[in-house]
Amino acid sequence: MIVSGKLLVSLSLLVLVFKVSHGQPLVPALIIFGDSVADVGNNNNRTTLVKANFPPYGRDFVNHQPTGRFCNGKLATDFTAEYLGFTSYPPAFLSQEATGMGILTGVNFASAASGYYNWTAQLWGAISLDQQLNYYNEYQSIVVNMVGEAEANAIFSGAIHLLSAGTSDFIQNYYINPFLRGYTPDQFSEILMRSYSSFIQKLYGLGARRIGVTNLPPIGCLPASITLFGSGSNQWNIKLNQDAILFNNKLNNTSQTLQKSLPGLKLVVFDIYQPLLDMITNPSDNGFFESRRACCGTGTFETSVLCNSRSVGTCNNATGYVFWDGFHPSEAANEVLAGDLLAQGIDLIS
Ligand SMILES: *[C@@H]1O[C@H](CO)[C@@H](O)[C@H](O)[C@H]1NC(C)=O
Ligand SMILES: *[C@@H]1O[C@H](CO)[C@@H](O)[C@H](O)[C@H]1NC(C)=O
Ligand SMILES: *[C@@H]1O[C@H](CO)[C@@H](O)[C@H](O)[C@H]1NC(C)=O
Ligand SMILES: *[C@@H]1O[C@H](CO)[C@@H](O)[C@H](O)[C@H]1NC(C)=O
Ligand SMILES: *[C@@H]1O[C@H](CO)[C@@H](O)[C@H](O)[C@H]1NC(C)=O
Repeated sequence: MIVSGKLLVSLSLLVLVFKVSHGQPLVPALIIFGDSVADVGNNNNRTTLVKANFPPYGRDFVNHQPTGRFCNGKLATDFTAEYLGFTSYPPAFLSQEATGMGILTGVNFASAASGYYNWTAQLWGAISLDQQLNYYNEYQSIVVNMVGEAEANAIFSGAIHLLSAGTSDFIQNYYINPFLRGYTPDQFSEILMRSYSSFIQKLYGLGARRIGVTNLPPIGCLPASITLFGSGSNQWNIKLNQDAILFNNKLNNTSQTLQKSLPGLKLVVFDIYQPLLDMITNPSDNGFFESRRACCGTGTFETSVLCNSRSVGTCNNATGYVFWDGFHPSEAANEVLAGDLLAQGIDLIS
């Protein structure tokens, strides 16, 4: 019998929605690390150009407010929080919302323009993954003080930890940084893998036992990539996509090795490459009509400070757009991605 991916997603969703509607969230907490794909405002008060805490960002979010999310509305991780049965989204650890009992169900450490390569974060004034882990350590002490060691440890080991990084390492560093020109994409990916591996081991050392990591999207098809790296051809940069595939293969392999060497760890690689490529290639299959141009501004390069209330050409309604800005999916696309994550992440919940 052939069961389509979509059907599988719907079935798993159905089971989950049923469970969730009958009680508690499926896991005690949701903890998030990474870059702009997952940042919900940790960069807001930092000295960096990589921010999204102004309109039109957030115009379709709760109360139509910008939060620091690089999206018109919800991120894939926000939908994930909903699907897991949480009634709120993990707050940015550096924000004033991250106080009180609310933090027991998780917080978010992600920082736009961060990456596996710690110089990526430094280059842009973002929070490096090492520093995100330091903050997680701090968070753990706070939780221990609130509920005691035993319950705290149950939270940390039961929580789902999501990591979403790597795009900035390539787009905002490797392809534009003359100092990295000496490395081939293969060599650069190897460097990133060492850092990834060390991150997972440290996270495991802090008690995490359920970890999901997203792979790289088709970075050569992002609207701004086509403009910046497409050599004026208005075509995908196939080479960038090949680099992403190479990285993703290594990510799979490294993850398998980690899974084998760390007892009791559930480590799942979430494929976002294929689902996003499908949306870009066949937008209408998922109810989209535009996948080349983003909604914000001309849709060909604007992101962060360049996507603002004075950007000319911003679309009125982003629901038909796969991309919200030059580098980031729209809320509508994030919802599709989150459905795929859920289907792939059943192992993390069971
Ligand atoms: C930034 O500063 C504002 C004003 O002090 C505060 O309300 C907010 O929580 C801070 N956010 C972050 C992420 O630091
Ligand atoms: C990057 O990592 C190296 C090795 O751990 C460390 O010595 C260096 O200080 C880090 N750089 C930044 C900017 O965090
Ligand atoms: C990596 O593994 C995931 C999940 O097992 C799979 O969907 C994906 O195709 C693999 N990616 C590569 C590049 O092999
Ligand atoms: C991944 O592992 C397989 C099997 O061990 C190997 O054949 C392949 O070359 C590896 N891929 C990469 C990109 O390292
Ligand atoms: C955008 O369009 C969709 C589909 O046509 C519609 O359901 C939605 O209400 C519109 N949103 C806004 C903010 O106009």
